[in-house]
Amino acid sequence: MDHFDYRDGALCAETVAIPEIAAEVGTPFYCYSTATLTRHYRVLESAFTGRDVLIAYSVKANSNLAVIATLARLGAGADVVSEGEGRRALAAGVAPERVVFSGVGKTRDEMAYALAHGIVHFNVESAPELEALSAVATETGVTARVALRVNPDVAAGTHDKISTGRKFDKFGVAIADAPLLYRRAAALPGLQVDGVDIHIGSQLTDLEPLRQAFERAIELVHSLRAEGHAIERLDLGGGLGIPYGAETPPGPDAYARLVFALTKDLECRIVLEPGRVIAGNAGLLISTVVYVKDTEDRRIVILDSAMNDLIRPALYGASHIVVPVREPAAGAPLAPVDLVGPICESTDTFAVDRPMPPLASGDLVAFRSAGAYGAVMASSYNSRLLVPEVLVDGDRFAVVRPRPNYETLLAADRIPNWLQDANATANELAE
Ligand code: LLP
Repeated sequence: MDHFDYRDGALCAETVAIPEIAAEVGTPFYCYSTATLTRHYRVLESAFTGRDVLIAYSVKANSNLAVIATLARLGAGADVVSEGEGRRALAAGVAPERVVFSGVGKTRDEMAYALAHGIVHFNVESAPELEALSAVATETGVTARVALRVNPDVAAGTHDKISTGRKFDKFGVAIADAPLLYRRAAALPGLQVDGVDIHIGSQLTDLEPLRQAFERAIELVHSLRAEGHAIERLDLGGGLGIPYGAETPPGPDAYARLVFALTKDLECRIVLEPGRVIAGNAGLLISTVVYVKDTEDRRIVILDSAMNDLIRPALYGASHIVVPVREPAAGAPLAPVDLVGPICESTDTFAVDRPMPPLASGDLVAFRSAGAYGAVMASSYNSRLLVPEVLVDGDRFAVVRPRPNYETLLAADRIPNWLQDANATANELAE
């Protein structure tokens, strides 16, 4: 459930009319709803009532400081995969002991930053990473608490590009190799082995692959304990899907029931790393129709947002529902259109043959389910300005990342001194 509804003929975020924000901020922009973020967090939290659980919001889904701060105030921890994300989590008020440092290629500098700032929980993905972490922890004098991310070799049944738990994926260590690596980790200085971690993919719409992966991880916890390792945390990763359209992913209740059933006698803290399920349906991308172009066989609606602002359709063939911001008249006819951006690539296409009510130049539209993996994956390709972000809370809103301007865009580059003298270059060419 979200808090984006039509009121008095206009799409609103909570009680703020989207056209009001558009008039102030311009388009395109991302718009997040505090009430929706809060609801999604609370639903998950209450599904796990009675269980020792850390909900470590996966910052990669939406790392705006205001979004992380909203969740931190509700009690969320953070799952981070880079120094940058670690800095964001701490700056937004997440306590370092509630941060988990994941990721397949943490550098020694990133490890040192984390340890120096109280981030001690690491999900380690390889033998060389264990050695590196041991060295950095010994140098900094802070003990790193280690879970190994094991690859349970389970097909998550999601998009190929966001599956992570099959044996040929680059993530984690093979579950069969885990006992040996745990022994090695336990013998290394500066490390305290305390957990097992898995994450098999994202946008999962079925619990079965999760059940298989959880069972394998739990089996491993038992055998590691039998070998004398004090395993205190089981990190089950993220991955719970959301409805973008007709999907019917399991809700947090069913997910929690599965976790409760499998872990009831485990005496282990459960760590969850949800990203999309919290932020995905808490955000819209608002865009303006620039032109409507009729070709021989199709109507093309050209928007002012593009694949650089929301790359999911271009990258994964993902489909986002797009609705007009002015509520269409009841019974308004729907006709198929292509919704495209202005970038010079055919893949800059959001939807093909999408039935839409009539749209004209200047109309606003909203991409739904754009709160996760939207703004964070944006770029300034085609020298377009990075898309701004707005957070709504009840009847108020704030720009939580302003649109940069062209001066900043150009000022980021440098022309080396040998190119600065235009005459010199012309002379060189003339010689
Ligand atoms: N934990 C780990 C180790 C992860 O790699 C991820 C996501 C998560 C947690 C959070 O997963 P979630 O709950 O959000 O499914 N850009 C893609 C999604 C990539 C997900 C990467 N890892 C997309 O737009 O669909």
